[in-house]
Amino acid sequence: MKYDFTTIMNRGGRNTMAVDGYGMMTQGIDIKEGVEPIPMWVADMSFATVPTVPQQIIERVNHPEYGYFITPDEYYNSIIEWHEKRNGVTGLTRECIEYENSVLGGVASALSVLCSKGDKVLIHKPTYIGFTMTLKNNGYDIIHSELVKDENGVYRMDFEDMEKKIVENNIHTTIFCSPHNPTGRVWERWELEKAMEIFQKHDVMVICDEIWSDLILADNKHIPLQSINEDAKNRVIAEYAPSKTFNLAGLVGSYHIIYNKYLRDRVRKESSLGHYNAANLLSVHALIGAYKPEGYEWVDELCQVLTENVNYACDFFANEFEGIEISKPEGTYMIFPDFTKWCEKHGRNIDEVYAAGIREGVIWQPGSAFNGPNCIRMNLALPHSKLVEAMDRLKMAIKGLE
Ligand SMILES: Cc1ncc(COP(=O)(O)O)c(C=O)c1O
Repeated sequence: MKYDFTTIMNRGGRNTMAVDGYGMMTQGIDIKEGVEPIPMWVADMSFATVPTVPQQIIERVNHPEYGYFITPDEYYNSIIEWHEKRNGVTGLTRECIEYENSVLGGVASALSVLCSKGDKVLIHKPTYIGFTMTLKNNGYDIIHSELVKDENGVYRMDFEDMEKKIVENNIHTTIFCSPHNPTGRVWERWELEKAMEIFQKHDVMVICDEIWSDLILADNKHIPLQSINEDAKNRVIAEYAPSKTFNLAGLVGSYHIIYNKYLRDRVRKESSLGHYNAANLLSVHALIGAYKPEGYEWVDELCQVLTENVNYACDFFANEFEGIEISKPEGTYMIFPDFTKWCEKHGRNIDEVYAAGIREGVIWQPGSAFNGPNCIRMNLALPHSKLVEAMDRLKMAIKGLE
């Protein structure tokens, strides 16, 4: 490997949420004395970003003038090239792209354009907690359509249920997550086509969150929803960011792609109303640094590392335990093990499993936050040696309950 994904970085002492804020996850459960916590919860990575990011930022910072600035052409050109080279997107122009102060901020602005307060919005379950909060905080009603596992344990959309809920609730907006957090599904073309067919049939506008679209595992392939057909191109408001891909969440900087001029004018207007949505000089330069040629290589290597970690963790659970079910993710760096059968077999509940992991210093996240009550979400974006250590600790913790 050209880049370093093995060094164990000391992330503590810098107000890093994953490490310095893990108390949010321990729920008053004490970690055993002398055991160092391993952060496997909030969605950022225990890897240093690609070196071109700090290089680009430092180069700009060295010029000691940080007044009002104009977003440079290089920013837009970097995005256009990234989408062309990574996802085969052609014909993307600068006017379709706009900075957003975080993906959830973009989702909130798009919702304001598409919905009135109290409107019902369709979303899949399990659900990324940020969507739940954004919808609740902004006064929209959530209608869930549950993903169902097929005979191979793969989470699939229940198209019949989606259509029924859309019709019954007179729904005209959905938030679609692609790849899906927390299940890690990378939707296949036929799945996207079928979903879009339903959305078109019932006039449902789509906010598509593709923040995870660079983190694709093994041989899977991400297909941008807007590329499905001409209707999708005009019906979908897509949200992207370099933040998950390059570990830049603390810099805050995402962007939308909207081809439909009417929609993008409306979203832009809505985003501008709070006067908070101006690009930050450093995050603009971070994106430019990330989308350089080195960034392409770095992400390819990262995806290999994540694939190995996901394979290791899935095999570990399968070999060591009976009844812990994992639908192997095809993208993201999350796994979402379901302990329902294991708990039934051993007369335990999910809180006991969760607490046992925390006591061993494995900082994972309750699935209930994602509408998966018997699941626990685990972040595998950490050096492999740390993952091995975490899984050994979990083995001890869970075996101790059997
Ligand atoms: C699907 C999804 N969307 C959005 C976000 C958050 O993005 P931002 O911090 O840019 O709002 C996350 C973070 O985990 C996520 O998983």
